[in-house]
Amino acid sequence: MVFSPTLTSLVLALFPLASVNALRTKRTLCPDGVNTAVNPACCALFPVVQDLADNLFENECGDSAHGALRLVFHDAIGISPTLGGGGADGSIVIFNQTELENPANLGIDDILSTLSPFLFKHLDTLSAGDFVQLAGAVSLVQCPGAPRIPFFSGRAPPVAAAPTGLVPQPFDSVASILQRFGEVGFSPEEVVAVVGGSHSVAGADDIVPNMQGIPFDQTPSVFDTQIFVDVQLRGTLFTGEGGQQGEVETAVAGTVRLQSDSLLARDSSTSCAWQSFANNQSGIETAFGQAVLKLSLLGQVQSQLTDCSEVIPAAIAFTGGPATLPPGLTMNDIEQACPTAPFPTLSTQPGPATSVPPIPQADDDS
Ligand code: HEM
Repeated sequence: MVFSPTLTSLVLALFPLASVNALRTKRTLCPDGVNTAVNPACCALFPVVQDLADNLFENECGDSAHGALRLVFHDAIGISPTLGGGGADGSIVIFNQTELENPANLGIDDILSTLSPFLFKHLDTLSAGDFVQLAGAVSLVQCPGAPRIPFFSGRAPPVAAAPTGLVPQPFDSVASILQRFGEVGFSPEEVVAVVGGSHSVAGADDIVPNMQGIPFDQTPSVFDTQIFVDVQLRGTLFTGEGGQQGEVETAVAGTVRLQSDSLLARDSSTSCAWQSFANNQSGIETAFGQAVLKLSLLGQVQSQLTDCSEVIPAAIAFTGGPATLPPGLTMNDIEQACPTAPFPTLSTQPGPATSVPPIPQADDDS
């Protein structure tokens, strides 16, 4: 059989493409003899991920996982078109003496103390910037309902501390928060998704005097939409002694609310976005996942990094039910703010009101 020149050249032209595609999907056994990777350059990260999941997070969506997620933000947001800063470059770790002087980084010292032994153990495998973002991605898959976000490796070491004034504070106005995030490419909807979503698995260690691990919503160990309900309940700005600026008394016993979250839920520029995530689990998972990925790449050129998403374990699916009102409350306790659509109708939890327990602290059992 004689191939026509046209057919032969077509086959020859297609063959290399087919081989490349085969190479791209073929899994190679890593040197550990356990894991396989499409990109062998990612193999070295599997033991780091395992160590973080088992020994730092202890396979829980607890204090250490919350801290790692917060660190993603405080490192990444340190970049500005006018003031400089390297974004998601690990500067908050390497230049911690300077960056921890920034009052907006209150509490980051404790998070760094918890994470640092793991960072130093693995610094020959990945840079500080990669470590912060890898730990954040692995922290999310400890939390039921949270998305599995891609991970890109290869961030260069940071060259300087981030300038002060770039990390939003809980007593900032919505306009100032949107302005800060807007400078680095976040829309108001993305701000609501990344702030509300992250504060679904979060609490305060430093803003309520003498109290640690005070949750921001009723379910701090689950990435769900309860935060978008709890923050929309009527509350009073804390102006008395014993609390700090930026703290709000809430209708949910045992929780605390940041003034900034409260304002994002009520401001005319963000209230409808905030409300749109109440009882919208798939919506917040998608929007939050995209926004955190964006944070993780601030100051970086994605095409110059290596896609090692394959080292991130599977997400834990959300198995909870719809968001609910605390016992004894009704829809009248929701402070409706979005002028164009009603808040989703919620049922009330049965039984007497109970106080949400504090989040056990990472150093509680040490
Ligand atoms: C307007 C923007 C934001 C403000 C003003 C803000 C403020 C705060 C404050 C004051 C705390 C409590 C700190 C303490 O008392 O120890 C906190 C906790 C937390 N924040 Fe935010 N935050 C913002 C955005 C974000 C974003 C974008 C993320 C992640 C992507 C994030 C993740 C967290 C987490 C996970 C915690 C709990 C940390 C822990 O339990 O150790 N925050 N935030």
